[in-house]
Amino acid sequence: MSNLSIDAERLWADLLETAHIGGTPKGGICRLTLTDLDRQVRDWFKAKTAALGCAVTVDDMGTMFARRPGARSDVPPIAMGSHLDTQPTGGKFDGVLGVLGALEALRTLHEAGYETFAPIEVVNWTNEEGSRFAPAMTASGVFAGVFTREWAASRRDREGVALGEALDIIGYRGPQRCGAHPLSAFFELHIEQGPILEAEGSDIGVVTGVQGMRWYEITVTGQDAHTGATPMRLRKDALRGAARIIERVGAIAEAHAPAAVGTVGMIENKPNSRNVVPGEVFLTVDLRHPDDAVLEKMERELDATLPTICGPLGLAFAIARIWDQLAVRFDPDCIGSVRRAAALSGFSTRDMISGAGHDAAYISRVAPTAMIFVPCKGGISHNEAEFTSKEQCAAGAQVLLQAVLDFDRGLAERLSANPVRTTPERS
Ligand code: GLV
Ligand code: MN
Ligand code: MN
Repeated sequence: MSNLSIDAERLWADLLETAHIGGTPKGGICRLTLTDLDRQVRDWFKAKTAALGCAVTVDDMGTMFARRPGARSDVPPIAMGSHLDTQPTGGKFDGVLGVLGALEALRTLHEAGYETFAPIEVVNWTNEEGSRFAPAMTASGVFAGVFTREWAASRRDREGVALGEALDIIGYRGPQRCGAHPLSAFFELHIEQGPILEAEGSDIGVVTGVQGMRWYEITVTGQDAHTGATPMRLRKDALRGAARIIERVGAIAEAHAPAAVGTVGMIENKPNSRNVVPGEVFLTVDLRHPDDAVLEKMERELDATLPTICGPLGLAFAIARIWDQLAVRFDPDCIGSVRRAAALSGFSTRDMISGAGHDAAYISRVAPTAMIFVPCKGGISHNEAEFTSKEQCAAGAQVLLQAVLDFDRGLAERLSANPVRTTPERS
């Protein structure tokens, strides 16, 4: 049944309805992971999928799985999804499109009475953004065995609340062990978050991989002092050191142009008083490159530059690499399903590597995985102005549906020739 068609209006209505949960005056969403707003959108998702007859399960990292049965209950599900948490000044599409597009695909199957071979699941992963709790993609990382659940649950936000406590507060620490949930495949629909598809006029990005990324936390320590009475030569101004580090992070990325990017996204200045020379600054660094070897070189350059900046200013510093996500290549079979799905619907495509991190990057370690990108206006994302049109969202959801069905048909052919092997449970 290749003529199944998702309902663009219904998907758009869902996007606009859920955008009210944490909606900002500028038209974006502020729905940080595991807040009460996150609970509200999770409850909405649970109600919508349960109304379609799905069994909804939650694991001990709060990830939600809504399952529609297939012909073979012994075959692990083909999953599709993304995340419903947002950045503090997030848009309406980052992550949300991947979950609601998957919901729409599932609803289309349900209404058509289409019986898939494998069960089909829609997944909402916990803490993809990494804004409240670092690092990003925490639950999918535990699911893939990259992080232990104990380590992940003990990550703290800047107020000192642990991720595990936040799960309990909103009532979303489920009984299922994270990772004890084999998948036949995973497909993630997402907005591109960059300018390429729009600039080239392509409808669909066939995502073949994700670039490598590393996160660091740096604390620069000097000495609080009076701004009026302390001569310049006696100061230990931590913010001045931080300013030089920020400039240097940009320069390191520029030295590895055009693929490298480097950002200081968070900074906390203490005591942050206008007539105190700052005694301590906390800052975060995000370095990314598609080639892990270049990323390693960028890290060495960052390490080398800190003493040369801090020494002359009389400052101490500490740096910790808190996250290292290797570059990822997606599964050729899943990529093939995305290509055929786009061709079937008459959409133009372009192969691309994702600049942003996604849950699919971790899931690719434990299940065949691929991603589908749709354009976003001006390439703007992590911004309340983020925009993808109704038609572009629908195109992505349509390709998602057809890619899942393509993979399902292939799975049915393979498994009718060979017996089912399910992934053993990991501890
Ligand atoms: C996630 O949004 C990331 O790429 O940092
Ligand atoms: Mn995202
Ligand atoms: Mn994001």
